[in-house]
Amino acid sequence: MDLEVRSVSKRFGATIALDNVNLKIASGTIHSLIGENGAGKSTLGKILSGVYQLDSGEVELAGQAVTIGSPREALSRGITIIAQELSLVPSRNAADNVYLGIEDHAGPWVRRGVIKDRFEELTNTSGIIVPNDRPVSALSIGDQQKVEILRALARNAEVIVMDEPTARLSVEETAVLKDVMRSLRNQGKTIIFVSHFLGDVLDVSDAITIMRDGKIIRTSKPSDETHDSLVEAMTGRKAGEAFPAKTPPNSPAPVLEVNGLTRGMQFADISFTVGAGEIVALAGLVGSGRSEVARAIYGADPFDSGEVKLQGSVIKISHPATAIENGIAMIPESRKDQGLILDRSIRENISLPYLKKLSQLLMKRREENSMVAENFAAAGIRALSSEMTVRSLSGGNQQKALFARSLAGHPTLFIADEPTRGVDVGSKRAIYELLADLARKGMAVLVISSELDEVVGLAHRVIVMQTGRIVAELVGDQISESAVVSAAFSMKQREGLAS
Ligand SMILES: Nc1ncnc2c1ncn2[C@@H]1O[C@H](COP(=O)(O)OP(=O)(O)OP(=O)(O)O)[C@@H](O)[C@H]1O
Ligand SMILES: [Mg+2]
Repeated sequence: MDLEVRSVSKRFGATIALDNVNLKIASGTIHSLIGENGAGKSTLGKILSGVYQLDSGEVELAGQAVTIGSPREALSRGITIIAQELSLVPSRNAADNVYLGIEDHAGPWVRRGVIKDRFEELTNTSGIIVPNDRPVSALSIGDQQKVEILRALARNAEVIVMDEPTARLSVEETAVLKDVMRSLRNQGKTIIFVSHFLGDVLDVSDAITIMRDGKIIRTSKPSDETHDSLVEAMTGRKAGEAFPAKTPPNSPAPVLEVNGLTRGMQFADISFTVGAGEIVALAGLVGSGRSEVARAIYGADPFDSGEVKLQGSVIKISHPATAIENGIAMIPESRKDQGLILDRSIRENISLPYLKKLSQLLMKRREENSMVAENFAAAGIRALSSEMTVRSLSGGNQQKALFARSLAGHPTLFIADEPTRGVDVGSKRAIYELLADLARKGMAVLVISSELDEVVGLAHRVIVMQTGRIVAELVGDQISESAVVSAAFSMKQREGLAS
């Protein structure tokens, strides 16, 4: 079922999200959409899947102009979307989630049996296997993603829009997902793949469409593109160095000192420091305990033993609010639960944690405005004004709003867990500059990242974790992708556990 978009435009107030877009998507292909944050990728995906309505233009399916007035209508025409944030019911198992809303209306036990049978058949025919014996909240993000895909298949979707499906996946999970995408394509399904991972895009696509400022720049075959040619078309600029030069920290004074931090099964005996002006990366496989350690330092989770010192004094942090008062800021891993208030303005989201402090000053509003303006610019948010709601921002710009909020408190220690997730290449570079600049000004920076190039490109020191313990520390020239990988996979820890 070929899909054609003709002269489609879409505005949100003064923002032109799509500007006279023309695009053909051939049936049975993987067609990627790439572009900087705010380029209009999600908007296009949402129009095709009935989440948004176009202002003008038309969509043709198999040569026929069609209306797509709602997600339900899109589905009846065989189109569905797997959105940037997953939408599963956490307490139910995979089969329940797959058939939610389309269950058979037979008696309760018959229904259970039918659902189970149909689920097994679906996993067999699609080759997409996920455990069904536990609530989906207990599944890895990769498996949750597969449940979303099974949901789409159970609804007989022929065209599946996947909006940044790999943004939260590990390298291994991404490889599995790409295989799933290929096998769906080989079964004749059409996949519209929105992603900032240009390597994956080049690897998996049959066609690539590059968007910029709501317009299509070009559609081409991956064999005619390179990473740099894509970057240049997306940004309109030559692709430069990916990372700023490293400035070695000159003050060894530790800002953060962690001694013997231990928490149940999650991590044990974690000791390290982060000095003023230093960027330290916590690396390791997903599940190695990196994020858990960061959350404990920040007071988002408790720990059993050990201590956290900030500028030489032991601090007791039982809540993120205390962390902020102590000069620690953190950008947590998942955008969804890091407390952006979607229907409030960017301004309110930036200043919210500091209102108490601000209101002690008489010049509250003026202080607030300059705090917001400064950090809005520093984080490189692309929006018409700071009065826009956070909901109206593209995914990557929401991430930058979080950055702005964290920086507004002038932290001495900045913890960034996957700081560039969902952020386009151009903005990634801007965030790297920002982190390097913060360090140069004397801030201690702790970065957690699953992207190896990011770890290697940014960090002065890399601490590698495995199953909840530190297994290696790499400094200066020792830092390379292969050194980090071999430490992350080394048998040291497993042997240690066995003995
Ligand atoms: N519901 C909305 N209300 C107002 N503006 C919106 C809304 N949705 C999107 N926009 C605006 O439309 C433009 C395109 O946004 P879109 O979400 O399509 O970008 P994107 O290419 O998916 O970016 P990202 O890579 O950051 O996800 C942006 O300027 C965004 O702020
Ligand atoms: Mg998007």
